[in-house]
Amino acid sequence: MASSRVLLALSLALLTLTVASLPGTPTALSTSYYNKRCASLQPAVRSAMARAVASDPTTAAAVLRLFFHDCFVNGCDASVLLDDDTTTNLIGEKSAFPNANSLRGYEAIDAIKSAVESACPATVSCADVLALAARDAVSLLGGPSWNVRLGRLDARIASRDAANANLPGPGSSLSSLLDAFQRKGLSARDMTALSGAHTVGRARCATFRGRAGGGANGSGGEVINATYAAELRGACGGGDGAVAPLDVATPDAFDNGYFRALMERRGLLHSDQELFNGGSQDALVRKYARDGAAFAGDFAKAMVRMGNLAPAPGTPLEVRKYCRRPN
Ligand code: HEM
Ligand SMILES: *[C@@H]1O[C@H](CO)[C@@H](O)[C@H](O)[C@H]1NC(C)=O
Ligand SMILES: *[C@@H]1O[C@H](CO)[C@@H](O)[C@H](O)[C@H]1NC(C)=O
Repeated sequence: MASSRVLLALSLALLTLTVASLPGTPTALSTSYYNKRCASLQPAVRSAMARAVASDPTTAAAVLRLFFHDCFVNGCDASVLLDDDTTTNLIGEKSAFPNANSLRGYEAIDAIKSAVESACPATVSCADVLALAARDAVSLLGGPSWNVRLGRLDARIASRDAANANLPGPGSSLSSLLDAFQRKGLSARDMTALSGAHTVGRARCATFRGRAGGGANGSGGEVINATYAAELRGACGGGDGAVAPLDVATPDAFDNGYFRALMERRGLLHSDQELFNGGSQDALVRKYARDGAAFAGDFAKAMVRMGNLAPAPGTPLEVRKYCRRPN
């Protein structure tokens, strides 16, 4: 009995060693992963990100969203950064419905990666650069900070279909939002905290025109503040590409204004207002609206959990030199 347990433990240990040493198999992430490999990494990312935000403040929101759109599609593997390439038949994720015409920040990541390559050539993955840049984006906007676990590798492949299938859309109901996050192992609380990223950034009228449609509480059953709906209809006079802030209360500060706006029925997207519409997340929205520190703490923890999403076993991985194409 005891010896069979020892045998079992030994073979498990052997299995773990074998799996961990297979080429391309990601090992567990760690905050100290680059301490010896690239000691100057974090200051390099931070200052390159600060430069990008100084020249265009909207870059911070763009990079934060990029990280979400990376992690939700076959894990945080920088697949979202790959350009289409007809010579290798690579169809990237940039043209997927949730990304086309609105996902931004690729140039900022290129600039940060090039600063990192100068400091530590061929050492740091694009996926880790993105994870660090997203953390820095939040803190540059006045939000929380956290220790980023590192050691991700970059995929040599991407999937437009997976991007279309995995990224939730602005018309989602509360139950489909909960499902989309649960499929990634993220809880309802994680989902609501992570949605608080909409405390910054903009959306195009194409994503909220339907919600702005009617008067008080909108047409088609939209629960919306009448004054706000009128403002949005005005914004949409500029056409489908006209933008409005996702957080009407404090558009450019990473704070809890988003949740206060939801309580006034001033969520921009249908999916935003679904978090406060008589459902299971109402109490948490109220809590975040009155306690900014509770939101900041939960957001940081949820970002770490989202950042742990790993590519499927068998995904070909490497440390990419240039984020837009495999080596
Ligand atoms: C809960 C489900 C979510 C839905 C349905 C959703 C949907 C959207 C949509 C439709 C837009 C506007 C895109 C456009 O103009 O076409 C947007 C923008 C944005 N999203 Fe989300 N999102 C969700 C969750 C998240 C999460 C988890 C994050 C990050 C942690 C995030 C970060 C952002 C940011 C920062 C922007 C503004 C980007 C910019 O200004 O360029 N979103 N989102
Ligand atoms: C709009 O909906 C909210 C929440 O369901 C409700 O409290 C409010 O009375 C409604 N307003 C109108 C004008 O129907
Ligand atoms: C509508 O928004 C205003 C702020 O613009 C707010 O004072 C009011 O309470 C909101 N109405 C509802 C029903 O939440």
